[in-house]
Amino acid sequence: MNDCLPTKSALWQRVEGTIKEILHTYGYSEIRTPIVEMTNLFYRAIGEVTDVVEKELYTFQDRNGDSLSLRPEGTASCVRAGMENGLFHNQEQRLWYMGSMFRHERPQKGRYRQFHQFGVEVFGLTGPDVDAELIMITACIWRALGIIDDVHLELNSIGSFETRANYREALVAFLQQHESVLDDDCKRRMHTNTLRVFDTKVPEIQDVLTDAPKLYEYLDNESKQHLLGLCELLDSVGIQYSINEKLVRGLDYYNRTVFEWITGKLGTQGTICGGGRYDGLVEKLGGDTTAAVGFAIGIERLVLLIETLGLNKTRPIVDVYMVTTGEGTLIAGMKLAEVLREKIIGLRVMMHFGGGNFKKQFKRADKVGASVALVLGEKEVSQNMVTYKDLKSGEQLIISQDDVAGKLAQLV
Ligand code: HAM
Repeated sequence: MNDCLPTKSALWQRVEGTIKEILHTYGYSEIRTPIVEMTNLFYRAIGEVTDVVEKELYTFQDRNGDSLSLRPEGTASCVRAGMENGLFHNQEQRLWYMGSMFRHERPQKGRYRQFHQFGVEVFGLTGPDVDAELIMITACIWRALGIIDDVHLELNSIGSFETRANYREALVAFLQQHESVLDDDCKRRMHTNTLRVFDTKVPEIQDVLTDAPKLYEYLDNESKQHLLGLCELLDSVGIQYSINEKLVRGLDYYNRTVFEWITGKLGTQGTICGGGRYDGLVEKLGGDTTAAVGFAIGIERLVLLIETLGLNKTRPIVDVYMVTTGEGTLIAGMKLAEVLREKIIGLRVMMHFGGGNFKKQFKRADKVGASVALVLGEKEVSQNMVTYKDLKSGEQLIISQDDVAGKLAQLV
């Protein structure tokens, strides 16, 4: 679990701000849900035989003896919140959320126990057009952040629940023929959550699995059409993708479309975004049949990628540094700063506190990255003037305090 220090938070804000703005331009609204839920919700939504639930949940008993868990992802909570608040009754919903998620994983670069996701969930729409829009949104985000050339999209359809039941049968038969090669984890999963055997990291088992039956051979017609429709839409808006038949995703609720955006720049934890359809989840949790599709972006990985590519420039935290020296100048400076902040929306003005000579004060101004220093001595204050010093060019002039806002407006 990491601290986000002031040196990093500006980049985080830029990333979060960019994503939020883009989502609003597509007409999506924010939803905020608690970071703890009844443990049972995750068991039912994500699936008992998944790494996330089996190995990674942070679970505790509260004072009433209820079993609660820190959320490992946001989809289950969105569905619960939507059901409890009647958001799915004859309505569609286009939602986004951002927040901390918790998984007790083995930490490494790009994988943490507390991490942050920016997620989107759409309810009540069945067609591939929505799937395409979600992918277009992600592409738009990558473009805005300048990383579009360093990520690629992998796409698959895992079909209907019947597709997977049929496929599972064939896969179990195949695995039984190769049981001697399987480790205990795979043997157990063969009967509990067969598709998850593909998550194995054991090279010998991976070898055997290359000859396993393929899910697409069992794909139902409607799912094929859905995938085809999605591919056509992506082609027509010029979004490149590759079909990865092995892509099944690690959470149980998916059907039909699944996708991931992957970068080669971050080593093994290269998936910066994952998502797909989960048309059966609302019903599974006790609601009406409700089509659903969504994705989540891992913010740590996105930030890491931006830093790796050297795109982490952010605006300095200060535009104007207020230097004062002499009787009554500090308060005059504070008043002037207040006026400037009010007149120029977004202007960042930092006061120098703690006294000291000009040299010390200008050094601070440089350190915080200010573009301009405003200097107020007793003479300036008495004449309602101020010394304006451009810290980049060194240009210095004395102007009326009434005119300084006009000169500073160019900074924002
Ligand atoms: P997920 O693939 O488990 O999907 O997570 C989505 C993204 O969160 C990953 O692609 C990765 O970038 C990031 N992530 C996951 N675990 C960690 C970790 N331990 N440390 C850092 N980053 C991590 C979901 O969570 C689904 N709820 C996505 C979704 C929404 N599907 C439909 N709607």
